[in-house]
Amino acid sequence: MQIVLIMESIIMNKTIFEPKCLLVTGAAGFIGSNFVHYWLSKYPDNKVISLDALTYAGNRANLSELETHHNFEFVHADILDTNKIELLLEQHSIDTIVHFAAESHVDRSIHGPDAFLKTNIEGSHSLLKAAKKVWLDKQIMKHRFHHVSTDEVYGTLAADAPAFTEKNQYLPNSPYAASKASSDHIVRSYHHTYGLNTTISNCSNNYGPYQFPEKLIPLIIANCLDGKPLPIYGDGKQIRDWLYVDDHNRGIDLIIRNGQIDNTYNIGGNNEWTNIDIVTLVCELMDQHHPEGAPHSQLITYVKDRLGHDRRYAINATKIMSELSYKPEETFETGIRKTIQWYLDNEQWWRKIMDGSYRDWIEKNYT
Ligand code: NAD
Ligand code: TYD
Repeated sequence: MQIVLIMESIIMNKTIFEPKCLLVTGAAGFIGSNFVHYWLSKYPDNKVISLDALTYAGNRANLSELETHHNFEFVHADILDTNKIELLLEQHSIDTIVHFAAESHVDRSIHGPDAFLKTNIEGSHSLLKAAKKVWLDKQIMKHRFHHVSTDEVYGTLAADAPAFTEKNQYLPNSPYAASKASSDHIVRSYHHTYGLNTTISNCSNNYGPYQFPEKLIPLIIANCLDGKPLPIYGDGKQIRDWLYVDDHNRGIDLIIRNGQIDNTYNIGGNNEWTNIDIVTLVCELMDQHHPEGAPHSQLITYVKDRLGHDRRYAINATKIMSELSYKPEETFETGIRKTIQWYLDNEQWWRKIMDGSYRDWIEKNYT
């Protein structure tokens, strides 16, 4: 009976689940903060508890415009604190967890994998334990646990290999990817063993506002403005599939509301670029916005390759497109222009991160 209802809902494109109160972990990071903005502008009547441990990557300023929203609340906490999570779930009658919190930078995972295993594996497990205790032990059956994962769990692709589908074998290559793969498996096990209503999304590389300037696109924009070298790892021919951050969030929204429990959905933009082509494009756009430094491509500098560098990622998003009518709204042309404009308009934001002063600002404003 339940399967028939789910199939009917999918065919009719009807909502299966209506969240009322969400716990968003990693809410002060890049995608998490964009998600909270997205969600409260689309569903202002939902309460959003935005939790973050404020590691180096978490910046409360990403959420400052929401501080006065009546349904926004920020909680400074670690996902490893299971008791605190249980308390929050109970106190606010949270029915949906959207789990972004993670250590997310591959280069950092190569130099210090411990934090990745701790947060991404143990931290995810801590959340699952809290959800199980509060939702399942008390028989609160209307709940969702959405786990945000990455395409990097599938490993690397040869140039002519078909894009990753949800059926691809997990072959993670970096400590980051391995820690995300582990957490995906643990999420799955909490559905199969205990009956937790879980869903997982594996998304390609995101870009957009509020991305920490250690990642490729914001780093290139910031270095163009400062006339600093633009580091290209190895031969720069590695391929990534790029998606505008709110197109990722739209996908998560559809999965939470209409997706099938215990399902994984790939989210991607069908938008493969080599790193050197991306950097060259950003340089060309920066030449228009900031002609003083033109041509910015003269700053391109080839550096030592990343250890174990995956050659190519590509996402086949047919499942989410056909089952949930998902379609990215931004083209790469519009998304990258928007992104560059955001970094130009918000120079203070990334400069404070680069000189570390965002930490002082957080101290002063929020403690
Ligand atoms: P990010 O590094 O910008 O943000 C991560 C956030 O998690 C930070 O605000 C950090 O303070 C917080 N955090 C870290 N440890 C925590 C802990 N123990 N408790 C509470 N909060 C903690 O990362 P992002 O790029 O926004 O990625 C978010 C999620 O999306 C991650 O799970 C990542 O694996 C996944 N993902 C990212 C991409 C991408 O291109 N950025 C693509 C696919 C999937
Ligand atoms: P990154 O933004 O770190 O994301 P990920 O490693 O998760 O894909 O890097 C994107 C690509 O850009 C990746 O192939 C590594 C490469 N890269 C550089 O060539 N130079 C850089 O300075 C950075 C940060 C990344």
